[in-house]
Amino acid sequence: MGAERKWLFSLFSAAFISFLIFLSFISGFSSSYNNTFSSHKPFDSTVLHGPGHPPAFAYYIFGGRGDGERIFRLLLAVYHPRNRYLLHISADGGDEERARLAALVKSVPAVRGFENVDVFGKPDPNTYMGSTNIAAILRAAAVLLKVGGGWDWFLTLSAMDYPLVTQDDLSHVFSSVKRDLNFIDHTSDLGWKEGQRIEPIVVDPGIYLARRTKIFHATEKRPMPEAFKVFTGSPWVVLSRSFLEFCVCGWDNLPRTILMYVNNVVLSQEVYFHSVVCNSPQFKNTTVNSDLRYFVWDDPPKMEPHYLNTSDYDEMAKSGAAFARQFEKDQPVLDMIDRKILMRGRNRATPGAWCKGRQSLLMDPCSQWGNVNVVKPGPRVKIFDESIKKLISDWNSELDTCT
Ligand SMILES: *[C@@H]1O[C@H](CO)[C@@H](O)[C@H](O)[C@H]1NC(C)=O
Ligand SMILES: *[C@@H]1O[C@H](CO)[C@@H](O)[C@H](O)[C@H]1NC(C)=O
Ligand SMILES: *[C@@H]1O[C@H](CO)[C@@H](O)[C@H](O)[C@H]1NC(C)=O
Repeated sequence: MGAERKWLFSLFSAAFISFLIFLSFISGFSSSYNNTFSSHKPFDSTVLHGPGHPPAFAYYIFGGRGDGERIFRLLLAVYHPRNRYLLHISADGGDEERARLAALVKSVPAVRGFENVDVFGKPDPNTYMGSTNIAAILRAAAVLLKVGGGWDWFLTLSAMDYPLVTQDDLSHVFSSVKRDLNFIDHTSDLGWKEGQRIEPIVVDPGIYLARRTKIFHATEKRPMPEAFKVFTGSPWVVLSRSFLEFCVCGWDNLPRTILMYVNNVVLSQEVYFHSVVCNSPQFKNTTVNSDLRYFVWDDPPKMEPHYLNTSDYDEMAKSGAAFARQFEKDQPVLDMIDRKILMRGRNRATPGAWCKGRQSLLMDPCSQWGNVNVVKPGPRVKIFDESIKKLISDWNSELDTCT
């Protein structure tokens, strides 16, 4: 345990946390604020999950070297006491960055109160286009299934993403979505990707070498699989808890078979969940064909979408997407989103119905809290609500969603 212990910044020792090897900043800090949590826990600040309560989300937020501050800003933008968060700075970043991120996170009163944010202390590599990406996502899902009580959906965000909705709006709108639905942009019409992404055999040395490295290609290609059909699409997913349990803890072998296959596929995160969900008889009817993200692509598309700036704000704000990507660090358009959409002050969490403090320059309204089991839709909820209703109605009218 000795070597692993040093990864644990935890002052809180639930037995399972000590073998999971990630940082945990949680209790043991007496709050400098007189919030309702510090002396005794009134019943209404106890988080209740499950049917009859607003849905909750498990966020996996990842970045690389130098991304600590962006990850922290993004965490505050998507923070809600009902949710669960797992933050990851990949192996190319240093331990001091992880410790700094942990300290920043710990400085947030609500995070100390609700103990719902963790930072991986033992990082994974993240090879560009390599299969270490999907390994890291599955690890995050496994940890979140283990530690996170009652969340309903798992979401992946990178340090370059930002929300376009408040968590109150997200949870309110998802209250009317069946909790077994998955939002996965997908297609089996592979086009050029068949020859350039699926048939080539690649190896990600990040799986077995310690140093930072790049994928390499085998000289041979392989034929398309016959045992299952390959689907591809956006790497950004919103997955139901039941589907993730199927992938991570299930006894059907399909998720593992496809995992072993995508180990040698370029950009496995654009193939894995898409192929598992659509080849599985019990989950193929749960796929809503969207990633809920806003991007602007070049024509023809490059590897990554445009960096968004203030001139994209109007289109983005009326898009009905839940998140947008990608942004440069501290881009002024992020301040616009904070001010106009999230109503979020600098270094503060996005306010919601749970925040009970008086709003002022000195006082963070979310340093005191009340009932966290109600969410209150804000003035912009309509745009997002309409976009989800349309997606669900399209999904309802399709007989086979995996084509
Ligand atoms: C916090 O609450 C305690 C007990 O109610 C009180 O004695 C103390 O003065 C308060 N502190 C602040 C900073 O308001
Ligand atoms: C999908 O199909 C399975 C089995 O056929 C069924 O149990 C499940 O309720 C369906 N899910 C949805 C969202 O329609
Ligand atoms: C925003 O980005 C676009 C495309 O990259 C660029 O043409 C435009 O000049 C940028 N606008 C601002 C205000 O930076």
